[in-house]
Amino acid sequence: MKFKKNILCIGAGYVGGPSMAMIAYKCPDCRVTVVDINPARIDAWNSAELPVYEPGLDEIIKKTRSKNLFFAKDIENQIKENDIIFVSVNTPTKTFGAGAGKAADLQFVEKTARQILEHSQSPKIVIEKSTLPVKTALAMERILASAKGKITFEVLSNPEFMAEGTAMADLEKPDRVLIGSRETQSGLKARAELVDIYARWVPAEKIITSNIWSSELSKLVANAFLAQRVSSINSISALCEKTDADISEVARAVGMDSRVGSKFLKAGIGFGGSCFKKDILNLVYLCNYYGLQEVADYWESVVKINEYQQDRFTANILGSMFNTLAGKKICILGFSFKADTGDTRESPAIYITRKLLAEHAQVVISDPKALKNAAIDLASDKGKISYIEDPYSAASGCHALAILTDWELYRKLDFRKIYKSMIKPTFIFDGRNIIDHKKCFDIGFNVYPIGKPALSRFEDQSSV
Ligand code: NAD
Ligand code: UGA
Repeated sequence: MKFKKNILCIGAGYVGGPSMAMIAYKCPDCRVTVVDINPARIDAWNSAELPVYEPGLDEIIKKTRSKNLFFAKDIENQIKENDIIFVSVNTPTKTFGAGAGKAADLQFVEKTARQILEHSQSPKIVIEKSTLPVKTALAMERILASAKGKITFEVLSNPEFMAEGTAMADLEKPDRVLIGSRETQSGLKARAELVDIYARWVPAEKIITSNIWSSELSKLVANAFLAQRVSSINSISALCEKTDADISEVARAVGMDSRVGSKFLKAGIGFGGSCFKKDILNLVYLCNYYGLQEVADYWESVVKINEYQQDRFTANILGSMFNTLAGKKICILGFSFKADTGDTRESPAIYITRKLLAEHAQVVISDPKALKNAAIDLASDKGKISYIEDPYSAASGCHALAILTDWELYRKLDFRKIYKSMIKPTFIFDGRNIIDHKKCFDIGFNVYPIGKPALSRFEDQSSV
């Protein structure tokens, strides 16, 4: 079959796989190929067990794979054969040299640009889908402009706004699709070509276009604003715990103001995930670079409050359990950074587990999807941790439960049954405020939510 457009995506990760699956699904007349330098990842995308867990992804892959969606290893050849190339490689925080700990490590993006340059034999539209510092397109353009002969490249920015756990729904019905380009004749032509792809399923008013720098910067700012809301509500949760106010009631009252809005106001153990922290730190780096110290400090405080919230949570466990955890068994319910994903990158659970181990607690970790990743994250602590998927078996014989991920299944647990199997006195630290606290207290637990009065049978231990 002859396809109308040939689309390539370099990078078969959490973004490349699902986003290209959606394009293939919505555009049956386009041939979509996804490549990766990691051959194991490509094998996994071609197998029955996909490398990424996302509700709804399996079904779409089944409908498209080997029809108009392909996962391939021959990167060079695919660059030659495709006209539209998405770049969806990882852009982690730099760990070395200038800007270490804050700036984005752009080596994977740059390598991709050089690969495209080396293997292209015809004009290409190159689309930044990875999250990048503002002005990265300039570097891409400069590398690609060194092409000998007549091959031309147009660089676009099309940042991805999907969230993990809801990726397929977000991709199918996005709040907006953002496409940035140069405002030259060729830039606008390339922009129109990409608009045409999304217009197959996204309403026209939701496809917004802008200059390329606004597009790059909007992605960093969107994540910074979302993370800032989480840190704002978490900072207030600390005040609630001191004043007997209830963070859920405060969030509801504040969020009902239509100017504020009700989403992203759930207090918890802090945000995790591969992007919020890295993108804010990248923003901080950029502000510093441009001499905007106050702006940099403002955004950096969002990350500081996030760390503070995780420290507060573990300090509360220690304080409430009579200031010693040595030899006590603590069951962690949920290790992924949010519900409905097996992803544990930057999960607050990693930090909290390490803090508990430092107190010589014995840790049992339970999670429906993330145990494999948890064991990799905590490989250096092998032998000190047990991994048990069934929450009832995991909790049995423990002194305390710490709920770290908002998995739906934890709301519905039979806490009476769990209580009976645990060591008394028994504690629950609900880091996501998802269970019925009063009911658990009545069963016999001492219950410690976030930003709400504790339901405890003991005197306040914090002054001991
Ligand atoms: P990921 O690590 O899951 O995937 C990136 C993939 O790129 C890896 O499989 C890696 O092997 C591959 N890769 C790196 N260099 C390559 C090269 N030269 N050639 C071929 N493949 C190469 O990362 P991700 O979570 O998919 O994120 C990708 C980008 O999208 C990042 O910039 C991230 O900030 C952004 N983003 C992520 C999300 C998310 O929910 N994870 C959402 C929006 C945006
Ligand atoms: C986030 C953004 O929501 C996406 O728009 C963006 O595309 C993506 O980052 C990215 O660039 O990678 P994601 O990190 O997958 O998506 O998940 P979120 O739903 O944003 O949750 C992030 C963290 O904040 C989670 O740990 C979550 O538990 C926490 N959170 C979220 C709260 O603690 N409270 C809330 O009210 C909302």
